[in-house]
Amino acid sequence: MRVRGAVALVTGASSGIGWATALRLAELGARLILTGRDTERLAMLATMTGGTPLATDLSEPGAVTRLARAALDAAGRVDLLVNNAGEGHAGRFTAMSSEQVARLVAVNLSAPIELTRVLLPGMVSRGTGHVAFVTSIAGRTGVAGEAVYSAAKAGVDAFAESLRFELAGSGVRVGVLVPGVVRTAFFDRRGAAYQRQRPRPLPAARVADALVRSIVTERDESFTPSWLRLPVAIRAVAPATYRRLAGRFGGS
Ligand SMILES: NC(=O)c1ccc[n+]([C@@H]2O[C@H](COP(=O)([O-])OP(=O)(O)OC[C@H]3O[C@@H](n4cnc5c(N)ncnc54)[C@H](OP(=O)(O)O)[C@@H]3O)[C@@H](O)[C@H]2O)c1
Repeated sequence: MRVRGAVALVTGASSGIGWATALRLAELGARLILTGRDTERLAMLATMTGGTPLATDLSEPGAVTRLARAALDAAGRVDLLVNNAGEGHAGRFTAMSSEQVARLVAVNLSAPIELTRVLLPGMVSRGTGHVAFVTSIAGRTGVAGEAVYSAAKAGVDAFAESLRFELAGSGVRVGVLVPGVVRTAFFDRRGAAYQRQRPRPLPAARVADALVRSIVTERDESFTPSWLRLPVAIRAVAPATYRRLAGRFGGS
């Protein structure tokens, strides 16, 4: 899509991949609506990009719908929705409370669906627009200790794929970016540092570049790093082999 002059709503803009994506979109001439919870960081980013900050906690009932309406009130339309905000959780499923499960599903799955529900009709009526989703390799392969997070991300993938079929010929594109491990606050926040040597975490700016490139070139799906396609492909064609390898090399 043409980013220059487009109104872009970026969720999770106050940190990590979302922050770097907002900076890149601003460089390319987008008009930004920036959301997250950290009002100070959003204000700083708004100053740097000329964007409009709209602080929202996506886990609060009704907040996502209000955010979408506030974005439309502020800018008149949204041409590009970047569903990036997300929260992780590390720990055995059997130790999770129902509140923790509900929160992960609300932020990672329900919020992007609801934002899309409110903002997509305008794009369809204008015959142009783009909805981008940041999912995770965890949602493609499954990861021990991240069952609900992985399920929520897999749900986003299925939602995006279905929506893409539904929107064929409408002029509105749907893109998914599947990152591997990225150097952001994500791991500290979920309460468990990333401890493996490999794969090495990528800088957030590199992932943001891949995301923005995928939006500009209207790609349906991108993996960052691109070799992540390989385990996903092996799992698809030879699931038993994949599980054996994942168990042996610590992927699960
Ligand atoms: N880092 C990785 O290795 C990795 C790998 C695969 C996929 N991802 C995905 O990449 C996306 C971005 O994550 P990141 O790595 O950039 O992590 P991050 O630095 O922790 O940023 C997460 C962003 O999401 C926002 N957010 C989280 N919970 C929220 C809530 N309840 N309401 C509103 N905003 C909320 C945060 O806002 P505040 O800071 O204002 O609270 C922050 O802006 C996420 O969807 C994540 O699942 C990350």
